Amino acid sequence: MNRLEVPVIKRRDALIACAATAAGARAAQAVETVPAPAPATTASSSALMAVSLHVNGQARRLELDPRTTLLDALREHLHLTGSKKGCDHGQCGACTVIVDGRRINACLTLAVMHEGAQVTTIEGLGSAQQLHPMQAAFVKHDGFQCGYCTPGQICSAVAVLDEIRQGIPSHVSADLSAQPLLSVDELRERMSGNLCRCGAYANIVDAMAEVGGLA
Ligand code: FES
Ligand code: FES
Repeated sequence: MNRLEVPVIKRRDALIACAATAAGARAAQAVETVPAPAPATTASSSALMAVSLHVNGQARRLELDPRTTLLDALREHLHLTGSKKGCDHGQCGACTVIVDGRRINACLTLAVMHEGAQVTTIEGLGSAQQLHPMQAAFVKHDGFQCGYCTPGQICSAVAVLDEIRQGIPSHVSADLSAQPLLSVDELRERMSGNLCRCGAYANIVDAMAEVGGLA
């Protein structure tokens, strides 16, 4: 065909072509379409669940959407904002609290799973007037800079020393059946789930060593 010759497309042919293309697209869509997720809803009052916790020595009763994490229950419902939300994915340790004597990431657990539990947050460890020994040691050894990770670090540090006293081994314990040593290696390993973007790790270990009686 000569370059100057433009093919004549009849209107009827064009309509047929468009209709065929649209039908094809719809057919492809029918195969690939994934049902859209249901829009997020707020639980109605009938869907709420009651949960009773002992938080920092105080009995607390909450009516919660069962999907509420322990961290959100503490921060948003009880207004205990000392525990921090860093990643909300169990990766940073900023939300660490002590539940029935064991440290856990409060962002990774649902509040309704802890009916009757004893929960200790940074607010329950000490006060500005009467610091917990671990809080005082963090201040003395400069175990923080911005402080965002610090409540989780301190809750974790207190629980770590208890774990060692109880003889719970860690990944670096040489003998799983022997009493674990209170060593720098043990402290570093056991605190490895608590990240500090300010890099205060060395000073945190110094603070823990002093409270644990190593320094
Ligand atoms: S906020 Fe829970 S681990 Fe980061
Ligand atoms: S003191 Fe800033 S993140 Fe740890």
